[in-house]
Amino acid sequence: MFFYYILLGFIGIGALIYLFFAARDLIRISIPTFAGGGIYVGTPVEAIPIMLELANIQPTDIVMDLGSGDGRLLIAAAKAGAKKSIGYEIQHWLVKQSRELAESEHLSDKIEIYPDSFWHVDVSNTNLVLLYQISYAMKGIEEKLQKELPVGARVVANGFKFPKWKEEKTIGNVRLYIKK
Ligand SMILES: C[S@@+](CC[C@H](N)C(=O)[O-])C[C@H]1O[C@@H](n2cnc3c(N)ncnc32)[C@H](O)[C@@H]1O
Repeated sequence: MFFYYILLGFIGIGALIYLFFAARDLIRISIPTFAGGGIYVGTPVEAIPIMLELANIQPTDIVMDLGSGDGRLLIAAAKAGAKKSIGYEIQHWLVKQSRELAESEHLSDKIEIYPDSFWHVDVSNTNLVLLYQISYAMKGIEEKLQKELPVGARVVANGFKFPKWKEEKTIGNVRLYIKK
């Protein structure tokens, strides 16, 4: 009987741990989806040098990542010499993680990450947007960038296309756009 209760105890603890992680994953999928963006998937490491090549980062560049995840693109841009890299990220755990990553790379003075929805922020002060979002968000993002970005600003998008803008250059699944 005693071993029976021990076994039940282990099964109960296992079920609680499982429920905890299932609930956490559900929240992590729901928050960005309800915010009109993609769930968190980091840009694959092999795509980062391609994005940087198309971005051709200059020391005057103010870079923005709309949905900055763990901050890997912001860090890559800062290391490539951008003046400032700014990220907006809706999930607080990713904001915390990316700020910690920036600090561990001694790049906190070059990187700012805000816990905001990118739909609600003004992007007119950036001249280079790095983007890895989801197909259904691309139309709205294109319209926002068309309204707010200065003429000549570059957008380097991994994964999904804008419906109207014509890409200047494409490498694999990464596209360079220039705001006209
Ligand atoms: C596909 S991931 C890309 C992460 C990062 N940019 C990268 O390339 O590694 C998309 C990110 O956008 C965030 N996101 C989705 N909707 C958002 C919104 N409305 N405002 C800010 N961040 C959002 C998600 O939480 C997720 O981290």
